[in-house]
Amino acid sequence: MSRFTLAAVALAGLASGVLGADLKTCGQTQYDPAQYVCHENQFLCPITAGEPLSNCAGACYSKFMYSCTDNVLALLPATSIPFTLTADNPGLPIHGKPVTASDFHWTINGETKSYCPDQVGDSCPKGDKTIIAAGGGGISMNVMVPGGQLAFLDPYWNIGYTQAHSANIPSGSVTTGFAALEGGGLINLNGAGWGWGACPPRASGGGGPAWNLVAKNATNAEKYAECLPINLKINSVASGTIGAWQYT
Ligand SMILES: *[C@@H]1O[C@H](CO)[C@@H](O)[C@H](O)[C@H]1NC(C)=O
Repeated sequence: MSRFTLAAVALAGLASGVLGADLKTCGQTQYDPAQYVCHENQFLCPITAGEPLSNCAGACYSKFMYSCTDNVLALLPATSIPFTLTADNPGLPIHGKPVTASDFHWTINGETKSYCPDQVGDSCPKGDKTIIAAGGGGISMNVMVPGGQLAFLDPYWNIGYTQAHSANIPSGSVTTGFAALEGGGLINLNGAGWGWGACPPRASGGGGPAWNLVAKNATNAEKYAECLPINLKINSVASGTIGAWQYT
């Protein structure tokens, strides 16, 4: 997710060459095409979360976070309209599958669970899609229920959200430090850029096809070792679109 300097990347490319994989050459340097991409036969960039990083005048960058104009990198602008999220890593079976709100946390490729009170009836949105809003470093569920539903990193760094009519957030949760970037991704700026992980369902769990979503960091990386790196791609919906009366 973060920027890599050319020197560091070139060294890593050389190091991986020692393993003797099916190597290619980029200028004078040998590299493993499963791990790197070569730009203009001179710049090597790593592939992270299945994304071959792009090249901006020798600096590697993720298109989920930056754009490159006239050889200058710029952070993508913050989005001001609601969005859905999809998991992005072309190497995984959940590539392109939606983030789904269910039982007060976010999963991938699950079912969106929502509720509409009888007295609201026909004015309720369908509630079958998980729509999110972002602003001021925070994220929330894009709902009609008065008071809204805030989303946050829970103490395990899953993404949770508050119940309707409740401001209760587990202690130790993190409610800020998110960037929702237009034409890019939802970025977790907490935890020094370890990015998102998608944890495959456990065979014994009986939980259906949903994968769990976690935010990785230096402390939990080992615990979440089986969780595979993904980007969370922002798919804007029409401004003013509400996802549900409330998510459950
Ligand atoms: C990393 O995540 C864990 C939860 O999985 C949390 O307890 C810990 O405080 C986080 N570490 C940092 C440095 O934020």
